[in-house]
Amino acid sequence: MSLIQPHGGALINRLNEEANYNFDYVIEMNKTELTDLELIATGAYSPLEGFMEEKDYYTVVEKMRLNNNLPWSIPITLTTHRKSAARLAKGTVAALEYQGEIYGYITVKSIFTPDKNKEALKVYCTTDDSHPGVNKLFSRPEVYIGGPVTMCKRPEREHLNEYHLDPAETREKIERSRWKSVVGFQTRNPVHRAHEYIQKTALETIDGLLLHPLTGETKADDIPSDVRMKSYAVLLENYYPEDRVHLSVFPAAMRYAGPREAIFHAIVRKNYGCTHFIVGRDHAGVGDYYGTYDAQKIFSNFSSDEIGITPLFFEHSFFCRKCGSMASLKTCPHSSSEHIVLSGTKVRQMLGRGEMPPKEFTRSEVASVLIEGMAEHVLEHSGGKRNG
Ligand code: ADX
Repeated sequence: MSLIQPHGGALINRLNEEANYNFDYVIEMNKTELTDLELIATGAYSPLEGFMEEKDYYTVVEKMRLNNNLPWSIPITLTTHRKSAARLAKGTVAALEYQGEIYGYITVKSIFTPDKNKEALKVYCTTDDSHPGVNKLFSRPEVYIGGPVTMCKRPEREHLNEYHLDPAETREKIERSRWKSVVGFQTRNPVHRAHEYIQKTALETIDGLLLHPLTGETKADDIPSDVRMKSYAVLLENYYPEDRVHLSVFPAAMRYAGPREAIFHAIVRKNYGCTHFIVGRDHAGVGDYYGTYDAQKIFSNFSSDEIGITPLFFEHSFFCRKCGSMASLKTCPHSSSEHIVLSGTKVRQMLGRGEMPPKEFTRSEVASVLIEGMAEHVLEHSGGKRNG
């Protein structure tokens, strides 16, 4: 049985635990850069072999394509301060450190100062620094360093080991399950009834579901990933057929880049072996920066051959009291006053107060785990650093 081809044709592998190169400089990575290093090294970001060089960065920002024309929508970049950049030279090797430990190496091919305003406008559609992605972009050092990487040490795992599967391992698992079609589901939230509804609607025609929650950095008010992982497990245990779902983590940081991030999320899930990918309402959105269906419309910029993975678009879904079931704007004729729709903020506030959201919105087993987990999390982290 042949699985879907990775983006660009081959799964990249830049892991080498034996690597112990001579290096001329040290570049200190932030958490997002460390997770990006790992995602490059494991092939999740295939065909990228390193942090983007200027020529790829430029076409990605301008045209959502790598320099070789392959679709790619989000810059994957490594930064350093101007002072340290002045000491770097092309062709040399720099060690990549995080909190004083070496995780890998980069062969410096490109040193450049990006136009961050342009990057913000093109990628995030705004330069407003209250947008969490834009804020992060503007607060990073000024200079970008591009070139191929090798990773020699994996970061410590924050979740149960069984949930950490690299693209190659995920592909093997899909193969063992004999699924011919696999739908990937991205989320940074607990799985609520609307998520469950669109996943199960897809499962009516697709062989298997890869529930692939993003567990890298998110904004501080999103529910922490350790709490979410427990909620996914209890949901699957109670409401999904065991042989139709795999649960594992996507350790990337959230960009909140809406439409551009939807393309990125889809391509990366192809590298993990998915043939289909769910894009619902306001995918990867935040605040009011993007139109409800912009993340679906953006796919029309590419041919289906170029993207490779098939997006499955879903309309805004909810529980309708009159229908007595989950429904969407496509299937329900009743007025919105019959629909149970709660904002993420409202639900987080309820859970934080220990209140159960309506069972039509969140399964009670899931809500209980979230209430308990969030209370524990607050205790563990009170006075300490927030694990956002
Ligand atoms: S995301 O930032 O990770 O995309 P979220 O976890 O809220 O956010 O959403 C996961 C996926 O479910 C996205 O594809 C999103 O568009 C979709 N989605 C979320 N809520 C709904 C809903 N009520 N109706 C339809 N699709 C939804």
